[in-house]
Amino acid sequence: MQTITEIAALRAALQAARKDGKTIGLVPTMGAFHEGHLSLMRRAKAENDLVVVTLFVNPTQFNDLDDFDRYPRDYNRDAELAEAEGVDFLFLPTPDTMYPKGFDTVVVVRALSERLEGASRPGHYAGVATVVTKLLNLAQADRAYFGEKDWQQLQIIRALTRDLDIPTEIVGMPIVRESDGLALSSRNVRLSPEQRTAARVLSAALDNAQDIADTSVQDAYQLAAWMRQTIEVQPLARVDYAVVVAPDTLQEIDTIEVGAVALVAATFGKVRLLDARLLRLPTGPAMER
Ligand code: PAJ
Repeated sequence: MQTITEIAALRAALQAARKDGKTIGLVPTMGAFHEGHLSLMRRAKAENDLVVVTLFVNPTQFNDLDDFDRYPRDYNRDAELAEAEGVDFLFLPTPDTMYPKGFDTVVVVRALSERLEGASRPGHYAGVATVVTKLLNLAQADRAYFGEKDWQQLQIIRALTRDLDIPTEIVGMPIVRESDGLALSSRNVRLSPEQRTAARVLSAALDNAQDIADTSVQDAYQLAAWMRQTIEVQPLARVDYAVVVAPDTLQEIDTIEVGAVALVAATFGKVRLLDARLLRLPTGPAMER
């Protein structure tokens, strides 16, 4: 594995690979790797000749300086894990490399960025969309891999590649979880033992919504209310949102029959956690087609 810190060097390496007819898979990350990140790298490795992992704790997507400062960083461990997955290039730029003096462009996916995470974290998705656009342009990969845990982020990235005619295929990947259901996240290490136990409530709420949808209720608002109640029972959790929305537009829907995703966000102390679940339609005899 080659670690690259400069844009020109990354471009040169990838241009040479493309000339040789090699396909390229891109995995953008902010580091502190866990199995979720590694699952993206593995899939990229399986589907492409070369894998580029980018590791950049992107300052412009943090609306809270404290969150940026406390974001876990462990470059040596990350490099070892990436190497073990057979990653070919690890791109590790500095903020000055990504945002040199005079940098003046922002990519905003408007409607999709306003709600949910966007409402609680002003400017967050502009930071994400801008850095991801840069990374997609830099790598010019055949495919780029993103996790469904950050469901809204994934839809925003799909929208910007479509709108800006970026030819890279965006591949969404299933959420990797702990054995108790908690979605893996780089922020989980900041939870106290009590908060860590309490955080199970997020995936439990999503499972609840699916169970209820399976047996009786397909009303999206009612399911959302159930999820909120499930989370609120846990005193260490502060719910930000619990919604059932259309999977691509993230707009409110009345019934899950049209296809729906359940999204939840809550803070545990100072740690904000997200989870998502695509809701299946019940498969009872009455629903069989
Ligand atoms: P980061 O939080 O490091 O996540 C990198 C990628 O890993 C994202 O696509 C995220 O959805 C995915 N991921 C995180 N946890 C996962 C899990 N439990 N299962 C599966 N995939 C998971 O998301 C970002 O970085 C940044 O916003 C980024 C896109 C790199 C732009 O800065």
